[in-house]
Amino acid sequence: MELINEEGANELLQAQTRVWNHALEFINSMALKCAVELEIPDAIQSHGKPITLSELASSLPIHPSKGEYLYRLMRILVHSGIFSLKKVGDDPQQEGYSLTPTSRFLLKGNPLSVRPLLLFWLDPVPMEALQCLSTWFQNEDLTAFNTAHGKCAWELTGKNARLNNVFNEAMASDGALTSGVVMNKCKGVFEGLKSLVDVGGGTGAMAKCIAETFPTMNCIVFDLPHVVSGLQGSDNLKFVGGDMFESVPSADAILLKWILHDWSDEECVKILKQCKEALGRNGKIGGKVIIIDMILGNQNWDEKSTETQLFFDLFIMTCVSGRERSEKELANLFFAAGFSNYKINPVLGVRGLIEVYP
Ligand SMILES: C[S@@+](CC[C@H](N)C(=O)[O-])C[C@H]1O[C@@H](n2cnc3c(N)ncnc32)[C@H](O)[C@@H]1O
Repeated sequence: MELINEEGANELLQAQTRVWNHALEFINSMALKCAVELEIPDAIQSHGKPITLSELASSLPIHPSKGEYLYRLMRILVHSGIFSLKKVGDDPQQEGYSLTPTSRFLLKGNPLSVRPLLLFWLDPVPMEALQCLSTWFQNEDLTAFNTAHGKCAWELTGKNARLNNVFNEAMASDGALTSGVVMNKCKGVFEGLKSLVDVGGGTGAMAKCIAETFPTMNCIVFDLPHVVSGLQGSDNLKFVGGDMFESVPSADAILLKWILHDWSDEECVKILKQCKEALGRNGKIGGKVIIIDMILGNQNWDEKSTETQLFFDLFIMTCVSGRERSEKELANLFFAAGFSNYKINPVLGVRGLIEVYP
C-alpha cells in the first residue's frame, strides 16, 4: 500500500467514518424500535415535565440491572433528535428528557401515531426479506420477500394472523393523518359523490373518515376476505371481501390509497381497468378514480424527501412486485387502462392525491 501523507490520511479517515455511519444507520432504527417497544415516549409524556434518567428507569418495565444502560440508549436518541434534554428545577446539573415533535408521533395514544407503521417496517418478517436482497438479485424469485419466506407478502399475511394484524394496524395508522389532511385541504374532491369504494381499503380508517364527513355517501371498503372478515360497518359504510383483479364493486368514485405502488405496471393496468369497468357498470357515465400514492419528484426534491421516497421504493421492491413512480410513469398507466385525463392535488407531502377520469 502507498505511503499516506497527512492530507491523504484525513481524507481516508473521513471516508472510512462515512462508510461506518452508512453501514450503522440501522442502529438508529433499532434504538427507535427499542424505545417504542419500551413505551419510552409514553413514559415521558405521562410524567408531565422533563423526566430524569432515574425517574425514567423506574417508570419503565425494565430489569433493575438494565437501568445503567438506559443512559446510552437515550444518548443516541437525543443525538438523533427523537428526544431532547432540558434543565430540571434550579440545579444546573440536573437534566431531564422531553418529547420533540418527532417523538410525539410515537405516542401510543396519539391518533396520528406512526408507531404501528414503524413496528411493521422493523418487524423481523420484512427485515428478513431485506437480508435476502443480494441473494434475490441472483435468483429468479419475484421478490426478496419470496426468497426469505417462500411465499408472497399477501399470502403470508393471509396465513400469519400476527403479521396480518401488525400490517393492518400499520396501514390504519396512516389513514387518520392522511384523511385529516385530505378533508382539510381538498374536501371538494369528494363533494357531490353518492357512493365510493375504497379498493384495498384495509380495515377502513380512511373510508370511515369519509363516511363520517359525508353521511349521505354510501361507502364500501373492499379488501381481501382475511382483512375485512368480522369488521363492523355503519349505516353508510360496509365491508366487502373480494379480489380487485377479478371485480370491483360499482360506485361514483373508487379510492386507491397506497395500492398502485404495490404492483407491477401490468398488474396496475389490470386493477385500473377493473376500476374503469366498475365506474361505467350499468351504463353509468363519468365518475373518477382517486389515487393516493407517492409521486417521485412531485416537489422541490429537498434531500430528505427524496431519501424518504427512495427508502419507500426499496422497501416496496423488497416486499412486493411494485414500485414508486413519477407522474409520467403513473400517467402512462392511466392512459394504458383507458382513462382520458387526470389532475394532481399536491397536498400530501411526498405523496399526492390524483383524480383520474374515464
Ligand atoms: C398497502 S395496503 C393499503 C391499505 C389502505 N388502502 C391504506 O392506505 O391504508 C394494500 C391493501 O391492498 C389489499 N390487497 C392486496 N391484494 C388485494 C386484492 N387482490 N384485492 C383486494 N385488496 C387487496 C391488502 O390487503 C391491503 O389492505
